[in-house]
Amino acid sequence: MTSPWSERVLQCFSAKAADYSRSVTLQHAIAFRLAEHIHRVRVLDGPWIDLGSGSGLLADAISLHHPGRSVLRVDGSVAMLQQHSGRVETLHHDLALGLPELASPPALLASSFCLHWLVSPAQHLQAWCQALAPDGILALAVPIAGSFPQWHDAADAAEVPCTALSFPNGDALRQAVSAHQVLIDQRLRFTQCSEAPSELLRSFANIGADATQHHPLGGGAMRRLLRAWPRDNVTGQANLTWVVQLLLVRR
Ligand SMILES: C[S@@+](CC[C@H](N)C(=O)[O-])C[C@H]1O[C@@H](n2cnc3c(N)ncnc32)[C@H](O)[C@@H]1O
Repeated sequence: MTSPWSERVLQCFSAKAADYSRSVTLQHAIAFRLAEHIHRVRVLDGPWIDLGSGSGLLADAISLHHPGRSVLRVDGSVAMLQQHSGRVETLHHDLALGLPELASPPALLASSFCLHWLVSPAQHLQAWCQALAPDGILALAVPIAGSFPQWHDAADAAEVPCTALSFPNGDALRQAVSAHQVLIDQRLRFTQCSEAPSELLRSFANIGADATQHHPLGGGAMRRLLRAWPRDNVTGQANLTWVVQLLLVRR
């Protein structure tokens, strides 16, 4: 049965599914980068699967490099799966319950910006690798701990709780795949800028990535947080830095 946390996460994404693809820049860029990495390695025949596919950015990028190759798009949000064109294969499934049942072990498990929404991401990652066919490839992009230093600093300075989502530890994810051949382990930094830190925070709600396990800040606490947000020395803008881990693993 789907947990209350997963239900909340999936409801938030479903509410913004129609706008998701045109509102995400970072996710687009990461999907293309991950698809290029996949393109450079040998991937066997057998099921190719995009886990937490959302509107299909990663599966579409993979298909661009491999025309004719079917990539099964798995997501817990029906509204997200409805954004895909009718000609692709989709599966509605809650990944918090584990991988879906498959007729044969997958040759490719790819996933971008989904694993951190699952409780115990390292355990899921380990299970994903174990489910691969021998010689199969796991390709993962996920934001990790160390992201959003500006948000954490602002919360400390304003003496309010930091309500940012907790991200998995990159070393723990690396450890989870250590029984296999790690082809790539990159930790990339991306910084979003805005005149107003409130815009940076609003961008989460705009794409449905606003489920939180924290109590939301009240008006006064939010104003203190925004006032305390550090400004870039050169541009004077408010920044928000993501650290995204890319892992490419062969079983
Ligand atoms: C930030 S979006 C990423 C979508 C896509 N991979 C991309 O890079 O644009 C996260 C996706 O994970 C899905 N998701 C979150 N929790 C899930 C769960 N428990 N089971 C299945 N999908 C889940 C959401 O519905 C959403 O489509």
